[in-house]
Amino acid sequence: MVGLPTPDPAERTAVQRSLPAGLLGDDGAVTRRYARASDLDSWQRDARITERGFTHAWVSRVDDGNGEDFFLATVDQLVGADDVVLDLGCGHGELTLALAELALRAVGVDHDPAYLTLARELAQERGVANVRFVEFTFAGDDARLPLADASVTLVVNRRGPTADKWLSEIRRVARPGSPVLVMHPAGGPPRPTWSRELPTWLVSHFGAVPFDQVCSWVEAPLAVAGITDYQLWWFDVPEWFTSAEDLYRRLVGNGPAPPDASEVRAALRRIIAHRSSTRGVPLRHQRLVAQFRLPDAGSPPS
Ligand SMILES: C[S@@+](CC[C@H](N)C(=O)[O-])C[C@H]1O[C@@H](n2cnc3c(N)ncnc32)[C@H](O)[C@@H]1O
Repeated sequence: MVGLPTPDPAERTAVQRSLPAGLLGDDGAVTRRYARASDLDSWQRDARITERGFTHAWVSRVDDGNGEDFFLATVDQLVGADDVVLDLGCGHGELTLALAELALRAVGVDHDPAYLTLARELAQERGVANVRFVEFTFAGDDARLPLADASVTLVVNRRGPTADKWLSEIRRVARPGSPVLVMHPAGGPPRPTWSRELPTWLVSHFGAVPFDQVCSWVEAPLAVAGITDYQLWWFDVPEWFTSAEDLYRRLVGNGPAPPDASEVRAALRRIIAHRSSTRGVPLRHQRLVAQFRLPDAGSPPS
């Protein structure tokens, strides 16, 4: 059982310390969105990250006590120098690379070749040799990861695929009793009252998945596998926006501009001007973190 850590922006976690110093910026207080999950701001320092599809490319501040920071602090408590870590849905590998520096080896798995190419480039640039990136789609079918049975000792999944797609294969490649730590954002932010000032099509983009449904992404596959001992933590804190352009990027994304982009931008400028508190305009920032251990040997996968 892991207790809730008290975030201290001045005290970086081991995972964070193993990220390149350049990612943290000279003035952490200004450039960092989170106290701990500073890699989510690395797109500001490396253009390749946005070019290859990273979708958190906006500036905001997220309150302390959020799920991203809690996830990293919990990973720190779990990872040891002898671990072989498997990162499910590793994206461009920031977490995998940080964990490789703390563990014996790390393997990042993703189905997006563009992300994996960047992950391999970053590994080479940073001289991280004990890491491997594997292209694979978790689909809940019989496809096998190119990993030996019981070769993994810690499984992490930050915003990656849901457990119905990977749990049975993880039970093959990870040693019985291995810890598994998962974090899921709850889709988009819940709809704020000011969304009524936006075009209808954009209002429908607010899409928080209800708490029960997010929990079921974890609980339903665990029930099928007969795993009843697990912890869930739900985080709901404000994410603050002070710029209409960042709010636009958060809501509309980095893809092609919609035909009414200028109308949307004007509405968001009005919202920032008239609805801001001293900290800006908030959206809710919701995350579920789940932790469990794989069953001991003797309990066959369902
Ligand atoms: C939101 S990103 C998170 C990336 C990374 N874990 C991080 O913390 O930066 C989700 C990643 O999961 C990958 N993914 C989603 N579904 C997948 C699946 N079924 N099999 C393999 N990868 C998947 C996506 O390609 C994407 O890179």
